[in-house]
Parts: sequence; C-alpha cells; structure tokens
Amino acid sequence: NSNVTSVKLVLLGEAAVGKSSIVLRFVSNDFSENKEPTIGAAFLTQRVNIDDHTVKFEIWDTAGQERFASLAPMYYRNAQAALVVYDVSKPQSFIKARHWVKELQERASSDIIIALAGNKVDIVEDGGERKVATEEGQKLADEEGLLFFETSAKTGQNVNEVFLAIGEKIPIK
Ligand code: GTP
Ligand code: MG
Repeated sequence: NSNVTSVKLVLLGEAAVGKSSIVLRFVSNDFSENKEPTIGAAFLTQRVNIDDHTVKFEIWDTAGQERFASLAPMYYRNAQAALVVYDVSKPQSFIKARHWVKELQERASSDIIIALAGNKVDIVEDGGERKVATEEGQKLADEEGLLFFETSAKTGQNVNEVFLAIGEKIPIK
C-alpha cells in the first residue's frame, strides 16, 4: 500500500522508567502494574492514521537493565525515530536520558527524530513526589531540538500524542 509509511522507532531509557508500559498502552491500550523487565529487546508494531496516510511504527523496545547496555546500538543504528524515556520521580533516570540523547546525536542517523518522555506523571497527580520539573524536561528538549511530552502509561496521558507527533515529522513516501 503506497499510503503506508513504515518507521523504525527505538525506545531507550533507564530500567523501569516504563518503556514497555508506554508501548503496551500504545499498541494494546492496556497497562500492567507488575510488568516484567524486558530481556534484550521486544519488537511490536502499531499503525496510526495521520491525515490521509498511515504510519506503521516498527518498535524496538530495548531493555534498560545495565547488563543489556551493549545491545542498544544495534537497535538505534538504523532507527528513524527514538523515544527516550525517564521517570519524573527518579532524577537519575533524567540524567540517563540526557546521556541517551547525546549518544543518539553522536552515533545514530543524523536525521533521526528524537522525542523525550517524562513518564509516570500520574504519581505526581496522586500526591507522590515529583523530582524532575516539567521545565527541566522542556529545557533539555528546547536545547537539543526534541519533541517533549510528560506521559503516563498508567492513565494513557499523552501516550498516543507522542507517537502522533513523531509520525507527523516523518516524511511521507
Ligand atoms: P526495562 O524493560 O527493565 O528497561 O523497564 P521498562 O522501562 O520497560 O519499564 P516497565 O514498562 O517494565 O515498567 C516498570 C514498572 O513501572 C512496572 O511496574 C509498571 O507497572 C510501572 N509503570 C510504568 N509506567 C508507569 C506509569 O506511567 N505510571 C505508574 N504509576 N507506573 C508505571
Ligand atoms: Mg521493558
């Protein structure tokens, strides 16, 4: 179908920030409180309609655990888009996100579209403590030219929006 544009997208971020949960929400509109850590990487696809064409996301959901760190370049090397995720309640995960953005800019395709997602915002709305301000995420995004959203895989907040925003930046074939 000539109206379908395929997009290879890689998810990167510290362990347990919610990468797989964001994908589960996007692909199946579902959430699991006790999602198992990803081993190696998982591959999933999902289509979205944008105007009169379809974008088919081919998603590589990587494992954040340190023992899988050496695998990441295999997945981002030929990616057209990347979603870098941190947890708004975990400052260390934001530092890790910065590192991923830098690594992508140095080693991935020069025209890669990068989106930054501050996940688990539902914790803040539930009275939990926020440790990374919205402004900090927005500042990094502005400085590095990234799309930026605060998301919740649990409630679904902004999850479709991230993928739509990426899809809108993909040139139509
Ligand atoms: P790795 O595969 O090890 O890299 O982890 P991951 O980034 O894929 O995290 P995963 O999706 O497995 O989520 C880790 C834990 O956080 C799970 O218990 C999820 O239920 C929980 N979680 C994920 N997203 C959210 C969210 O938006 N809000 C809340 N409250 N919990 C979340
Ligand atoms: Mg995972």
